[in-house]
Order: sequence, then structure tokens, then C-alpha cells
Amino acid sequence: MNCLSSSKFPFLFLFLFSFSWVASADPHEDFLQCLHYQNSNAISKVIYTPINSSYSSVLQFSIRNGRFNTSATPKPLVIVTPLNVAHIQAAIACSQKHGLQIRVRSGGHDYEGLSYVSVLPFVIIDLINMRTVTKSRTLAFPAGVCPTVGSGGHISGGGHGMMMRKYGLAADHIIDVKLIDAKGRILDRASMGEDLFWAIRGGGGNTFGVVVAWKLELVTVPPTVTVFNVTRTLEQNATKLVHQWQSAIGKFDEDLFDRLLSMMQQSFPQLGLVKEDCIEMSWIESTVYFAQFPRNTSLDVLLDRSPGSTVSFKAKTDYVNVKEPIPEIALEGIWERLNQLDAQVAQLQFTAYGGKMDEISETSTPFPHRAGNLFQIHYMTPYVTKNPRQAYINYRDLDLGMNNLGNTSYKQARIWGTKYFKNNFDRLVHVKTKVDPDNFFRNEQSIPPLSSW
Ligand SMILES: Cc1cc2nc3c(=O)[nH]c(=O)nc-3n(C[C@H](O)[C@H](O)[C@H](O)COP(=O)(O)OP(=O)(O)OC[C@H]3O[C@@H](n4cnc5c(N)ncnc54)[C@H](O)[C@@H]3O)c2cc1C
Ligand SMILES: *[C@@H]1O[C@H](CO)[C@@H](O)[C@H](O)[C@H]1NC(C)=O
Ligand SMILES: *[C@@H]1O[C@H](CO)[C@@H](O)[C@H](O)[C@H]1NC(C)=O
Ligand SMILES: *[C@@H]1O[C@H](CO)[C@@H](O)[C@H](O)[C@H]1NC(C)=O
Ligand SMILES: *[C@@H]1O[C@H](CO)[C@@H](O)[C@H](O)[C@H]1NC(C)=O
Ligand SMILES: *[C@@H]1O[C@H](CO)[C@@H](O)[C@H](O)[C@H]1NC(C)=O
Ligand SMILES: *[C@@H]1O[C@H](CO)[C@@H](O)[C@H](O)[C@H]1NC(C)=O
Repeated sequence: MNCLSSSKFPFLFLFLFSFSWVASADPHEDFLQCLHYQNSNAISKVIYTPINSSYSSVLQFSIRNGRFNTSATPKPLVIVTPLNVAHIQAAIACSQKHGLQIRVRSGGHDYEGLSYVSVLPFVIIDLINMRTVTKSRTLAFPAGVCPTVGSGGHISGGGHGMMMRKYGLAADHIIDVKLIDAKGRILDRASMGEDLFWAIRGGGGNTFGVVVAWKLELVTVPPTVTVFNVTRTLEQNATKLVHQWQSAIGKFDEDLFDRLLSMMQQSFPQLGLVKEDCIEMSWIESTVYFAQFPRNTSLDVLLDRSPGSTVSFKAKTDYVNVKEPIPEIALEGIWERLNQLDAQVAQLQFTAYGGKMDEISETSTPFPHRAGNLFQIHYMTPYVTKNPRQAYINYRDLDLGMNNLGNTSYKQARIWGTKYFKNNFDRLVHVKTKVDPDNFFRNEQSIPPLSSW
């Protein structure tokens, strides 16, 4: 895992969809026949069954966690790579008709592989053919750090990155959406109503329908931003620095781009940041920098979706409250534990909240982790303690609880649901009940409708 954060694409990205496809035979033979029947034009060119020589490469192309890339991992009966809305509508209708489950995949970054793995017979709708991105030097979109994260899952789950203290989450900047619901209808903000429009801005993917386009509000960034990367070892007082960082971050200015040095001198002098540590570049160049490509790598690398890391990982999140920073002694305990881990890579990422995040109400979107959070801890290792409190749906963790896919109960779902969504969980259930009462769009951690209590 090089790239720990997600796409920060300083642009408006829209999936532009509109078209059709076809099929072949088994429990999925009926499904394939159905696709063909529903949509005989061109659909045959975007259907992959296991006997197709490209099936494995299409499946593996967007797998971002080696844990779900084994021969034991359940595989889809069919992969459909739609070129248009009609193809998606056909896949939805035929899956319903023949009792197959659907998994929608965009970037494939789901931490538990839910966009391409299921224990029930399933079909992947892989949106790989539907992406359009334009670049700008001074307009940006506040999302994650990793250039390969898909807008389908990332924005559906909230989406945080370098600009969250200035502008909030990706989901805070959705102006409109195009969503195909379980009935195959194409809905936008006006036709779906404000309840569903609220739910799709952070309630998680594969729950309310298939997002085929986002209309996003862009934000301005200065022509030049400054980045730095300083390393401090334990011998260089790293424990103290991390401890002090916790009280410093609350005082950081929202503008992490300008006035960096003077701001750091004021808020966090202990770090000893000097001019030589700092590099100036454009915002879009900084996305390449944070994805750890060498300096001056062409911006075109941002359009390259070929698989990078094949690391197998397990991740967990927790939130640290403003009132309870982690004491130095506890940090020492954490380092000790990291050193004991029998893992190739173990990492701990602290993401500062505060700033704009404090100003947005907990109920304005389903993402509830706003005021009062000092930072989020993001652990990445196969071996971590089980101590869940609050968590972030985009860093999905099935240890928090799972739906039974055959018979999802509200009670079961509430266990993991309130960790991700706090009191917003019940409103999400209410919306789900209205728009997908039969629970067609579902996975191990999707919001259940009340009818499946
Ligand atoms: C290397 C890496 C770096 C990351 N960095 C960050 C970061 O900086 N900040 C951050 O907030 N998160 C980050 N994440 C987490 C990321 O935001 C989530 O995994 C997100 O859900 C990924 O979206 P995706 O489309 O790539 O994933 P997918 O696996 O394709 O989808 C994730 C979920 O959304 C559903 N889904 C996908 N597309 C659609 C659609 N069009 N309509 C409806 N449902 C859909 C899927 O079925 C699945 O349930 C990172 C993940 C990885 C692996
Ligand atoms: C595999 O599927 C693709 C997409 O439907 C199709 O274009 C191709 O001809 C198929 N290849 C084989 C060997 O069947
Ligand atoms: C998945 O496995 C194939 C070989 O079976 C390998 O080529 C590919 O890199 C792997 N991808 C990931 C993400 O582990
Ligand atoms: C570490 O902290 C001690 C005590 O605060 C200080 O004397 C020392 O100079 C610091 N070391 C480094 C490398 O900053
Ligand atoms: C920051 O520095 C560390 C240690 O030198 C290095 O491993 C890492 O890749 C650097 N990160 C970036 C974004 O340059
Ligand atoms: C990157 O490009 C700039 C401008 O072309 C140049 O001044 C700089 O030396 C280059 N940096 C590296 C590390 O190659
Ligand atoms: C579904 O689950 C609920 C609660 O977990 C249980 O009471 C009920 O019997 C189950 N129904 C079926 C059909 O399995």
C-alpha cells in the first residue's frame, strides 16, 4: 500500500453513461439470456463469464487488496462493464429476475473487497468504462489522497483528504447526482427528493442504487502550494512530538497552504520545520507528490489506473476526541506493539480533523464525525487489537459487525451502523426502506430496510 489516501481530483468528474449489451448459460445462463433479450445492442461486447480468457484480468484489474485475490475468494458468475445507462438497467433488471446479487465496482478500493466479492451468487457491474477527468491548476476537488480511488465508492462514503480542514469532505461538495435505483429509474436530485439526496452523500456505496454521475462543486486553490515530509525517529523525540502534535493541531490554521512556515513556528515549533524541508508546486502536482511518485513525474500518471500495490492488508479506524488526547505513555505502548507485529508493513496514520469539519453539523450528511474529533487513527496491519468505537465507512472493517445477506436484521446492522453513522443510522434505514424495500442493493455492511427486520 503506497497510497494511503484517496483521489484528490481537482476537477469535476462525471461518469458519462448511456448505452447497451448481451449474453451466455447456467444459473447465470438465464441471466445472460435476459441481458441479451433486454438489450441486444452492443451488450455482448461488455460481458465476461469465467470461460472468457479476459475474465481473470478484468476481475483482477481493480482489486486493490491482495487478501481478496486468492483462488479461495468467491468469484462473480458474470462481470459486466457497461458503456451506458441502458446496460446498467439491463443488469439490474436481469439480476432481480434471476435472483442474483449485484456488486457495483468503481475503483475497487473497498477495504473488505465488497465491490467484487460475495458469498451469494453474484454479478459485478464494473464501471471501468465510465470515467472522465479534466485537470486544472487552480480549481480542485476536496477528496482523498490516492489518485486511483474511484469516485463511485469514495464520494458515496464521505471522502476525506488533504483539504478536509479547509473545505470538509468530498460528500460535502455534491451538487447533484445521477443514480439508477432498484427499479431501474434514473434519478437526479430533484426527482429523488432531499431524503435520498442526503443519504447518498456519505451513507456508503451499493446501498441506494448505482451512481452514474456526480455533479460536484469545485474549490479554488492557490497556484502554488507547499508540501513537506519530515522524518523523526524515537531518538529524535518522536514520541514527544506526536504527543505535542495533538495539542498543536487544534491551533492550526485552516489554510495549510499559505503561511506554512510562520504558522508552524507559532503552532508547532517543536517540530523544527525549516524552509529547506519545504517544496513549492501546484496543487495538482502535490497529488502526484503524495502518491509518492518521483518529482516531476508527468501529471498523466494520475490517469493511469493500472494496478500498483498487491499488498494484502487489513485496516481499522478509531477517533480521538479533543478532550482525551493520547498520553505519551500510551504512545510508547503503541510503538512497542507495532514493533512486535509479525507483519511486513504496519502503519498508523493520524488524520487531523478540526477546522471546517467542526463547523458542519453532524446531521448535514450521513457522515457524523464532525466537531469534537481531534483526529482519526487509521491502523493498517493484519494484527490489531479489537477496540472499535467510532469508525469511517470508507475504511470498512467487517470486525465491527456484518449483515446476514440472506436475512438482514435491523438489530444486527445497528451494531456496525451506529459506529459509522451514529444517530444518522436510523434516518438512513428510513430512506432505504422507502427506496429499496426489497434490499436489492446489499452487502455485508449496507443499510437494511425496515422490512427486513
Ligand atoms: C490505497 C487506498 C487509499 C485510500 N485513501 C483514502 C483517503 O485518502 N481518504 C478516504 O476518505 N478514503 C480513502 N480510501 C478509502 C476509499 O475512500 C474507499 O475504499 C472507497 O469506498 C473506495 O471507492 P472505490 O470506488 O475505489 O471502491 P469500490 O471498491 O469500487 O467501491 C466501494 C463501495 O462502494 C460501492 N460502489 C462503487 N461504485 C459505486 C457506484 N458508482 N454506485 C454505487 N455504489 C458504488 C461498492 O459496491 C462498494 O460497496 C483509500 C483506499 C485505498 C485502498
Ligand atoms: C470475452 O468477452 C469480451 C467482452 O464481452 C468479448 O469481446 C471477447 O470476444 C470475449 N473473448 C472470448 C475469447 O470469448
Ligand atoms: C492478483 O493475482 C495475480 C496473479 O494471480 C497477480 O498478477 C496480481 O498482481 C494480483 N493482484 C493483487 C491486487 O494482488
Ligand atoms: C529531545 O528533547 C530533549 C528534552 O526536551 C532535548 O534536550 C533534545 O535536544 C531533544 N532532541 C532532539 C533531537 O530534538
Ligand atoms: C516521506 O519520507 C519517508 C521517509 O524518508 C518516505 O518513505 C516517504 O516515501 C516520503 N513520502 C513522500 C510523500 O514523499
Ligand atoms: C523539476 O522541474 C523543474 C522545472 O522544470 C526543475 O527546476 C527541477 O530541478 C526539477 N526537479 C527535479 C527533482 O528533477
Ligand atoms: C431472520 O433473522 C431474525 C433475527 O436475526 C430471526 O429472528 C428470524 O427467524 C430470521 N428469519 C429467517 C427466515 O431466517
